[in-house]
Amino acid sequence: MPGFPIDVHMSEHGLLDSIADDVRRGLSAPQKFLLPKFLYDEEGSLLFEQITELPEYYPTRTELSILTDIADELMGRVAPREIVELGSGSSTKTRMLLDAGYNAKTLAKYLPFDVSQTIVESACVELQQRYPDMELHGVIGDFERHLGLVPPPVGKRLVLFIGSTIGNLEPKERLELLGEIRKMLAPGDCLLLGMDQVKDIGVLEAAYNDAAGVTAAFDLNVLSAINNALHADFNVAEFRHRAHYNRDLDRIEMHLYANSAQTVHIADLDMTVEIAKAESIWTESSHKFTQDTATAMLQEAGLTLDAWYTDSLRYFGLALATAQGLALDPHMSLRRGD
Ligand SMILES: C[S@@+](CC[C@H](N)C(=O)[O-])C[C@H]1O[C@@H](n2cnc3c(N)ncnc32)[C@H](O)[C@@H]1O
Repeated sequence: MPGFPIDVHMSEHGLLDSIADDVRRGLSAPQKFLLPKFLYDEEGSLLFEQITELPEYYPTRTELSILTDIADELMGRVAPREIVELGSGSSTKTRMLLDAGYNAKTLAKYLPFDVSQTIVESACVELQQRYPDMELHGVIGDFERHLGLVPPPVGKRLVLFIGSTIGNLEPKERLELLGEIRKMLAPGDCLLLGMDQVKDIGVLEAAYNDAAGVTAAFDLNVLSAINNALHADFNVAEFRHRAHYNRDLDRIEMHLYANSAQTVHIADLDMTVEIAKAESIWTESSHKFTQDTATAMLQEAGLTLDAWYTDSLRYFGLALATAQGLALDPHMSLRRGD
């Protein structure tokens, strides 16, 4: 038995089980699509960890370098008693902040929240070794549906939403989610939001079309996930992955293109899908931000930007925000990388 509780609000397959309507809607649309959260079944989560180590995939190492630089200062100023991390994955980068809070003896509790139970469990096993005196409490759920089920705070709270996962949501959805996150913040509490920044298109497209083909495997895996969960018969080998940048909407769009015309049966939905040769299924968007667009988005969601952290190339940005009217410290207005 692990020495930490894990609240399970959905099983590993629960996400896929509960998505019948989303899959039906997505595969009936003129531009077929599947939602990005379906990419993270057990296999998908493992593949994403490999993506974070690819030479072309700059976001993880850039965000890690910023977090490494700011950890002591940030954790000293905010001094949270607990960190709730949404879409926590392996919690690898988070360790910079956990180390700082643990060593300062201010941080007592960490709550990783993710759709993937396997990844949260393995992260907690490692974290327990690293921080024997810290309380761990895993939450398995969908942050678009289960935020209200996060255990009540034990003190000052820092909500972490890093990895640019916010960029996978459409503007309306991310506004709704930020509004829900706002409700989790009491006076003195903060949100730290990580966002990939608008940059050279060559750099962006290379990051999502890596030479080793790991992103392709990650993307294609969503078809296997649907096959497993809904008894479908996608012929995965007959699709190929391609990501391109949409300059008008500042986002990477990942698609799976059919190499040949296909008829796919989804038994659990009693559904047949016709896919033409070269037609695509849109599997993920990854929106890119600037400091201005990030500030406007936070503002619209009832949050105030207190500090903005970036790297020397301005490849990645981390916004520290508070709920409007509940400012952390009026004198705190940091800016790195200027
Ligand atoms: C882009 S990865 C980022 C992982 C990690 N935070 C990092 O920075 O490397 C997105 C993470 O969010 C999780 N995720 C995606 N959609 C989710 C949702 N709707 N609810 C909860 N977790 C979700 C995935 O399982 C995955 O671990």
